[in-house]
Amino acid sequence: MGRVKKVLKWSLVVVALLFVGAQFYRPDRTNPPVDERKTMRANTQMTPEVAAVLQRSCKDCHSSETAWPWYSNVSPASWFLKNHVEDGRRQLSFSEWATYPKRKRERKLHEMCEQVESGEMPLKTYLPLHPSAKLSDEDRRLICDWTKQEEERQPETLPAQGGD
Ligand code: HEC
Repeated sequence: MGRVKKVLKWSLVVVALLFVGAQFYRPDRTNPPVDERKTMRANTQMTPEVAAVLQRSCKDCHSSETAWPWYSNVSPASWFLKNHVEDGRRQLSFSEWATYPKRKRERKLHEMCEQVESGEMPLKTYLPLHPSAKLSDEDRRLICDWTKQEEERQPETLPAQGGD
């Protein structure tokens, strides 16, 4: 018994030390600057209702306007969050919308509807701590109605893609 206790005690010490050590490896969470002219909201005909849903349920991982929660200060949670945000932004960033060519914009709009209809997005791991991001059937319908219309009216080049 004494031996087991000793092993347990030292295991706890090791875990505690690893946890403390992990805090020194905290990823950078500065958001990239947002050029309003390049955003999705500036380059689409987005209704306020759709904007509200995307803001509530997607923008933390799909834009440069991530609201980092307090636990993003704590490793190892910080590593998971940073990864999700980087992955999410790489796949689709509302803040970099005007850098996408027409085909890509159409594809991403199409994917947005598919991902919410299949329940893949917003990511399940996000929901317990962001209950307001959960989508209702009405929210999903809003997104899909809008993405379908928007897909039809994507111009070859956006104003923000023209000059500079
Ligand atoms: C917690 C972070 C997070 C949230 C919130 C989130 N996503 Fe994602 N999203 C990701 C990650 C990570 C990926 C890439 C990996 C994957 O596909 O699972 C992704 C992938 C996608 C893709 C796939 C892009 C492609 O071309 O394959 C689409 C579209 C998408 N998300 C739309 C949305 C929409 C719409 C919402 C809001 C209703 C949303 N996401 C909410 C993290 C998130």
